[in-house]
Amino acid sequence: MNICFIGTGYVGLVSGVLFSDFGNNVICVDNDKKKIENLKKGIIPIFEPTLDELVKRNYKSKRLHFTTDIHKAIKDSDIVFIAVGTPSAKDGVSADLKNVYAVAKVIAQNINKYKIIVIKSTVPVCTGDEVEKIIKKKNSISKFDVVSNPEFLREGEAIRDFRYPDRVVVGSNNLKKIRPALEKIYEPIIKKGAKFLTTTRRSSELIKYAANAFLATKITFINEIANLCEQVGSNVDDIASGIGTDARIGSRFLRAGPAYGGSCFPKDTKALTMIGNKFKTEMSVVTSVIKSNEKRKSLLADKILKILGNPKNKKVGFLGVTFKANTDDMRDTQCLKIFPKLLKKGVKISYYDPSGEKKELKRLSCKKNSNEILTNSDLVVIHTEWDEFRSLNFSKIKSKKLKIFDMRNLYQPNSFSNKNIVYYSIGRPFYEKKA
Ligand code: UGA
Repeated sequence: MNICFIGTGYVGLVSGVLFSDFGNNVICVDNDKKKIENLKKGIIPIFEPTLDELVKRNYKSKRLHFTTDIHKAIKDSDIVFIAVGTPSAKDGVSADLKNVYAVAKVIAQNINKYKIIVIKSTVPVCTGDEVEKIIKKKNSISKFDVVSNPEFLREGEAIRDFRYPDRVVVGSNNLKKIRPALEKIYEPIIKKGAKFLTTTRRSSELIKYAANAFLATKITFINEIANLCEQVGSNVDDIASGIGTDARIGSRFLRAGPAYGGSCFPKDTKALTMIGNKFKTEMSVVTSVIKSNEKRKSLLADKILKILGNPKNKKVGFLGVTFKANTDDMRDTQCLKIFPKLLKKGVKISYYDPSGEKKELKRLSCKKNSNEILTNSDLVVIHTEWDEFRSLNFSKIKSKKLKIFDMRNLYQPNSFSNKNIVYYSIGRPFYEKKA
């Protein structure tokens, strides 16, 4: 199959590379010349484990191509995926669709034979209708179909998620015609057991938002239960297993932590409330989730200040600053909302992140490793669950007391033999080893 991906961001690049790995001829298009030149050299613009090897291997085998020539790429393809970004618009809430519509106009100019246009970007319900209208202005409807095929990849786990998804969702108003082609390109995944779910285009668009909003709700729910646990002396990890083993609830996405962040949940939950507004349907659950999640970051900043006592000139070292492990992504990471509150109170902040120094944190001191944080801080905050923070070297803490606030519950409260360590976590009883 000849496939092209327009947009080599997270979704476009990962999906394009893996479709080429399945044996398809894939052209990845971007209007960023530098990015395309780098990709040809095997330089990857994002941090995703093993993606660089896959790019190099498939590029070398000539199944994977990179270009800025969008016109030729569309003309040469049977299936055209739209995978451009849909960030929050200027109002900070709704999805900005200008990239999607711009691409639709270019596709309209380049339909030289029947094509399936697949929207992979996360788009509000009815966007497919708009894209179809744009293309129909220049082409007869018999020459193309617009399909919705949302992605469910997690950053840091994207390769695995692509190869072994729970399901592939395809939404079209002309399923009979498009189904064979879509089934063919997803065949290696379906054979491994993924469900191939088909529905209407609008339902498919909504599935993506509903999935992200539901997962965000689950996380927010357990975070609020964690707050309650702290008041009543219960353990949120036990509550999560106690409810998660009920198959109706499910154990995943019940890890209490520093609020959800990243480029998807915050943006998509807000966009869903806007879709609700547009169709005069109250999204009261999601609205509360957004509010609770925002409040959580301020609540955690207050907790840090409380742990510090007198915060002025106290040294706080953050271990991890990304919104989760195995990514270098700083978009909507929780600490960006925590830092200003601490700095205002005179706290001195340093950080170490395995994915490197961050341009967003120019005013803060970046350390080279976790030991520098452990030995130079009054309080260490474990903000991101990178694997290397699961076995920190506490033997260096000898003289002074070190406070640790573990926002990811990586350690057991009673596991510290070092009496100089005072350990705080999320939603679990406070435990201090007495001298
Ligand atoms: C999320 C979804 O999980 C993907 O299915 C979806 O495709 C993607 O958004 C998207 O729309 O593109 P991602 O944002 O990469 O993926 O990250 P997640 O692993 O879902 O984590 C999101 C946030 O929730 C992180 O801040 C994470 O730390 C937090 N989280 C997650 C928790 O606090 N507790 C949990 O139990 C799980």
